[in-house]
Amino acid sequence: MKSLKKTLVLLLSATLVACAALCVAGCGGQQASSAASSTSSSASSEATEARGKTLVVYYSATGNTAAIAQAIVAQMGATSFAIQPAQPYTSADLEYDNPDSRVSKEHADAALQDVALAQETPDDWASYETVIIGYPIWWGEAAYPVASFARANDFTGKSVIPFCTSASSDIGNSAEKLSQAAQGGEWLGGMRFPANVNSDEVRQWVDDLGLENQNL
Ligand SMILES: Cc1cc2nc3c(=O)[nH]c(=O)nc-3n(C[C@H](O)[C@H](O)[C@H](O)COP(=O)(O)O)c2cc1C
Repeated sequence: MKSLKKTLVLLLSATLVACAALCVAGCGGQQASSAASSTSSSASSEATEARGKTLVVYYSATGNTAAIAQAIVAQMGATSFAIQPAQPYTSADLEYDNPDSRVSKEHADAALQDVALAQETPDDWASYETVIIGYPIWWGEAAYPVASFARANDFTGKSVIPFCTSASSDIGNSAEKLSQAAQGGEWLGGMRFPANVNSDEVRQWVDDLGLENQNL
């Protein structure tokens, strides 16, 4: 009887020791994993900060690209810069099916495509690490004032994200041509939106870019 009692006491103490050991291991494990997750979240916030400020640059002759640019600006809290030709295009200038219109003449003569801009370089250009650049498609390419903007500026050290609007054409090689005209920059794949794009589609695209929200 005495030895049975002794055995029970021994079994009970062994169980208590095992429970205590499990608890210590469990608590230790939890601490380790929360430390790991706080380390990784601070690392990822550093990575986000490193992306810095975003500038949304756009040209829009009839308002479609401007509407998308403004939606991006509102969502991100980013700054915008509207490219403005020194001599703005009138609606007569934009008549692409009239061979005597300004755009038709520019289309026919590459020398006329270097459009003078009211301001070539946005204020504080050096402070932006990401540039989202939006433009309408003209005859399969970026509208001429955007090519002038690309030629005029040094994008070295910046990530450049192009988007365009068009009636039906895809973005094609329009963004690639801009990147070739520009000095430097890491030009990423571009996006084409239809002129009457649904705002959810723009919102989703901006979310997917994963850029730092400048409002935060
Ligand atoms: C001169 C000119 C050329 C155009 N060429 C094309 C074209 O090649 N393909 C296309 O799908 N749309 C073309 N479009 C339509 C515009 O790309 C479309 O309407 C765009 O959304 C206009 O943007 P905006 O309102 O910001 O200027 C052209 C428009 C103009 C004025």
